[in-house]
Amino acid sequence: MNSISINTEHLNKYVTEEEKKSMLSEVLEAKQTLLSGKGKGNDFLGWVNLPAEQDNAIAESIKNDVARLAPKIKLFVVIGIGGSYLGARAVIEALQSEFAQSLASQHPFVVYAGHTLSEDYYHQLLSLLDTNDYAVTVISKSGTTTEPAVAFRIVKAHLENKYGKEEASKRIIAVTDARRGALHDIAVQEKYPMYVIPDNVGGRFSVLTPVGLLPIAMAGYNIDELLRGANDMRNTCLSGNNLDDNPALFYAALRNILYRKGKKVEMLVNFLPNLKYISEWWKQLYGESEGKEGKGILPHSLSFTTDLHSMGQYVQEGERIMFETFISVEKPGSSVAIPSDPQNLDGINYLVGKTLNEINHNAELGTMIAHRNGGVPVIKIDVPRIDEYVLGQLIYFFEFACGVSGYTLGVNPFDQPGVEAYKKNMFILLGKPGYEGKDLV
Ligand code: PA5
Repeated sequence: MNSISINTEHLNKYVTEEEKKSMLSEVLEAKQTLLSGKGKGNDFLGWVNLPAEQDNAIAESIKNDVARLAPKIKLFVVIGIGGSYLGARAVIEALQSEFAQSLASQHPFVVYAGHTLSEDYYHQLLSLLDTNDYAVTVISKSGTTTEPAVAFRIVKAHLENKYGKEEASKRIIAVTDARRGALHDIAVQEKYPMYVIPDNVGGRFSVLTPVGLLPIAMAGYNIDELLRGANDMRNTCLSGNNLDDNPALFYAALRNILYRKGKKVEMLVNFLPNLKYISEWWKQLYGESEGKEGKGILPHSLSFTTDLHSMGQYVQEGERIMFETFISVEKPGSSVAIPSDPQNLDGINYLVGKTLNEINHNAELGTMIAHRNGGVPVIKIDVPRIDEYVLGQLIYFFEFACGVSGYTLGVNPFDQPGVEAYKKNMFILLGKPGYEGKDLV
């Protein structure tokens, strides 16, 4: 298996062939709306063709930046929030060692900022930056988001203090709008190297632009393979018009069938802890795209077997409001054997000779059967392995399915009007000029 696919063996008692057939016509119509560019939010469809139309010069320029900066830095600070950081973090954390920060590596270790306003976080980050060579990318499409602006002001001052203004300006790369926004203006004035986020690509669909590609390449991963995987999945998504030959249509169809049957919560489940940020990225993609107008599946995530010992009870026996989507990875990156112990005091000698992956897969299968039999429909996404090529497939698959699913639900999947409310209140409370005397919403 070299491509991700949808497996419904644990779903059949919940979704009938009739329901699939009838939903196929709806998701095909949604796909048609998406590709015709005539649906809601149609000025944000640049991501559809991104892997095919990616300008090679961008990837080459990113590789040049990596070659220029990586040899002289230990840390690369990625400043951004939401769609301006989750995709990069998802790919990097899926690929890197869980213990990367403690290991000597020829590649810079990526640390994150701009995704929180925690004072302790910045205090701890600055202490780390005191003693390590570093460079920074600041990523904001609007160029005006408060969290990354605050983080950039703090880190920029530290960087200029540490290396002097001239060297600091060579260690900062801005990723932002081509023409507008405070970050664009700062980058032009300070002559920072700059990458543009295309106008027609929204934040949560931007991982295959420099937003994701720059941090991923700086961490030492192959962005050509990521794009190749995404492009192969694009071809599948564009050409396939049946559930069986188009995993994105299949996934969009199944989740909408289940939603209409009252399954209002979707748990994205993994059995590999390094996929945690794939789930975080997915939650933003689906939550921000579908949660509007009083509608939308609530995206939630679980890392098993860890969370079987915290949320397992609820999933097995709590309210029957959810379905699960398992990301099931066939081949692990490495192998660890269970050592034999003649005394067998712990009673686990029956596992000797099995790999941990075999044990984990049996835990996964046992969980799927138990949850299915306990009233939780299970969609399984079979994933051959975790590498850049397959992650590129997975990203495009989820993006395409999200566009189709959002249109099937009847919402504009490409806006996020609800994100503004907290910002308005925060600006009123902080006394931002222009917000004086305004009412909290
Ligand atoms: O998906 C989105 O559009 C949002 O999550 C944005 O990415 C997030 O709000 C950050 O915005 P910006 O890149 O403008 O700083």
